[in-house]
Amino acid sequence: QTVAVLFGGRSSEHSISSATAGGVLTAIDRDRYDVIPVGITREGAFVLEQDDPAKFALDAAKLPEVVDNGTRVSWPQPNGDRHLRVTLDDGSDVDLGEIDVVLPLLHGLHGEDGAIQGFFDVLEIPYAGGGILDSAVSLDKHFTKLALTAAGISVAPGITLRRAQWERDADAVRAAIDALGDVVFVKPASAGSSVGVSRVVGGVELDEALRIAFDEDDKVLVETSVAGREVEVGVLAGRGGAPARASLPGEIVLTSRSFYDFEGKYLGGEGVDVVCPADLDEDLIERLRETAVRAFEAVDGKGLARVDFFVTPQGELVVNELNTMPGFTPISMFPKCWIATGLSYGELITELIETGLE
Ligand code: DAL
Ligand code: MG
Repeated sequence: QTVAVLFGGRSSEHSISSATAGGVLTAIDRDRYDVIPVGITREGAFVLEQDDPAKFALDAAKLPEVVDNGTRVSWPQPNGDRHLRVTLDDGSDVDLGEIDVVLPLLHGLHGEDGAIQGFFDVLEIPYAGGGILDSAVSLDKHFTKLALTAAGISVAPGITLRRAQWERDADAVRAAIDALGDVVFVKPASAGSSVGVSRVVGGVELDEALRIAFDEDDKVLVETSVAGREVEVGVLAGRGGAPARASLPGEIVLTSRSFYDFEGKYLGGEGVDVVCPADLDEDLIERLRETAVRAFEAVDGKGLARVDFFVTPQGELVVNELNTMPGFTPISMFPKCWIATGLSYGELITELIETGLE
């Protein structure tokens, strides 16, 4: 079968998506699948990429990216013809052959928010991973909270701000934030990889934190910092009507970093360890896995998600967010936790693709 692996994109997580693709191109089962790598440039052009994992390796000194090489990939129309075609930079057209499924490895805007999922639905091209609704709800942290709360799952207390509110009455906004507590997190509603996120203590540089977050999105969440351990669980949709299942939980262990920011995630920043399985007692592990599946179902999850929790000292589970295309680089928590649960990196990719083909 032929899989179009899609990565890059217009979001602020372009490079992370490219690194995710580097990992997947390394691990995908080549005996089983033919691969056509399709990159999306930062401007949004679909280009034919090289099938070269090394080109997209996660390198903290120079994050990988999709550069416009002049080619243009065109997707098949919904008429039964599944041929992917590319126009080369000399103007000639080449038929790349039939594709069976797309594996979108896109994070953030247009890739993890239901947009590309809708695009492929319209074209009637099968794809792996989340659908329109679960992607849209999960990428918007405000709506994630509504869905989770309705399902009886605890979320971090906080408020949602619109840009217009901030511009109209900054004093009222500051007062509302003040009431949330001494330590708050300011984050764009729809971004990932901690892009645009700040931790604010005692109101210091709050305005700057809001400016950074509003640069990413017109909607911003300010949340009370939840004391506790940061634990993440991978969820995979079941195949053939089977229920979704959860991986063992992993833990983000902060040793000397104030939070799990972009630098700590991808740039080799010190002071954070990504550990899976987490050292937790059996009962807690069971509750985490069960709640992760419930959270996945609360957003109508399809394909996969990583459910991020805080576990309070009292043992309460607070869901921070869901990621419907979690980081898939070799150092990422999602593959790590599935490996700890008994699926290899390659098998995990096969699971995803096969679910997309159902
Ligand atoms: N948004 C990043 C890729 C993650 O959740 O892992
Ligand atoms: Mg996220």
